[in-house]
Amino acid sequence: MHNVKEISNDLYYLGGNDRRLALFESAFPIPRGVSYNSYLLKDEKTALFDTVDAAVCDLFLENLAEALGGRKLDYLVVHHMEPDHSASFLRVVESYPEVTVVTNKKVAAMLGNFFPFDGSKVLVVNEGETLSLGKRTLTFLFAPMVHWPEVMMTYIPEEKTLFSADAFGTFGALGGSIFADEVHFERDFLDDARRYYFNIVGKYGVQVQNVLKKAAGADIARICPLHGPVWREPAGIAWLLGKYNVWSKYEPEESGVAVFYTSVYGHTQNAAEILAAEIAKRGVFTAVYDVSAHHVSEMLAEAFRYSHVVFATTTYNNGIFISMENFLNDLKAHAYRNRKYALVENGSWSPLAGTYMQDIIKEWKDMTQIGEKVTVLSSVKEETAARLKALGEAIAEDVKNQSKGG
Ligand code: FEO
Repeated sequence: MHNVKEISNDLYYLGGNDRRLALFESAFPIPRGVSYNSYLLKDEKTALFDTVDAAVCDLFLENLAEALGGRKLDYLVVHHMEPDHSASFLRVVESYPEVTVVTNKKVAAMLGNFFPFDGSKVLVVNEGETLSLGKRTLTFLFAPMVHWPEVMMTYIPEEKTLFSADAFGTFGALGGSIFADEVHFERDFLDDARRYYFNIVGKYGVQVQNVLKKAAGADIARICPLHGPVWREPAGIAWLLGKYNVWSKYEPEESGVAVFYTSVYGHTQNAAEILAAEIAKRGVFTAVYDVSAHHVSEMLAEAFRYSHVVFATTTYNNGIFISMENFLNDLKAHAYRNRKYALVENGSWSPLAGTYMQDIIKEWKDMTQIGEKVTVLSSVKEETAARLKALGEAIAEDVKNQSKGG
């Protein structure tokens, strides 16, 4: 049965939720599910903005028929070709053969790659072009690499509405309300939104900054993303744009220290916790993560969240312990940068993990080491504990000075 939600006069939400999918993109755990959003605007012409993942296609098609209310579908605007939004494309085109597909050249080429689609009835648009629906005008804004190269957005000045594709989206299924101002976003969605941002588009901060510049030139009173709630309240929109500005400039969101450790028999954990306690007792927030126990997508988001990070790991097979090496490579793949960091290594006969971690980190931009790496020989002794405490004090003082703008 259809479950259409009205956003405003003539604008409808047609999407659905998947609360069963374990791994989004086969990579990211989504215990709170995910929504796939699609929107219909009814003017003198009707326009559908994107489709949905195959998981919610049947509901979506029922919603589309209900919202159209017997009218024909004139336009299908395709902003992004990733199948979580395009998987239902062919079923829409087959169900509404009179529809004109509105999109850019890159999407048009991809449509033929994904589907047995001959490219007929495609209206190719360029950056900044407009298309009138009657009372409203669609303006097309390109947003390459947010999150694929073909991505574009649509702005409707008469509605002050931005259809933002993946940008401003989040993991997390929607409940009864689809509006950000009717959920506890900061409490229930922010961690997922941050994790979504850094794992999906975090590598493309420059491109996100370009989108924010385009958004700054538009009067936006509503943001309709492809995942997560719709934004329509001015303070909420300003808050969200502010988060994206900080995230895409690779600036820390919070002052604090994320301590990431791996530990085979507990000694490196012991070192990491002695260090963390020394930082915390000076009034500086610390979070501690066992890199082998936490999902890498969560740790990636936390590493970007805080101003300072510590990597503590074991030497293993004459290298870095496996899960820490994977984590560091994932940080590198997402252009991690602009943080203060400290290193702790452990080894029973040839402690080298710190040197190898340093070799990886020195390739990252704007990273500044605090203190010297601390080497643990098998287990923490008094002398090693003293060095860990001195490092902890140096990190805490740096956080506090940075917080003061020092
Ligand atoms: Fe939600 Fe890049 O797809």
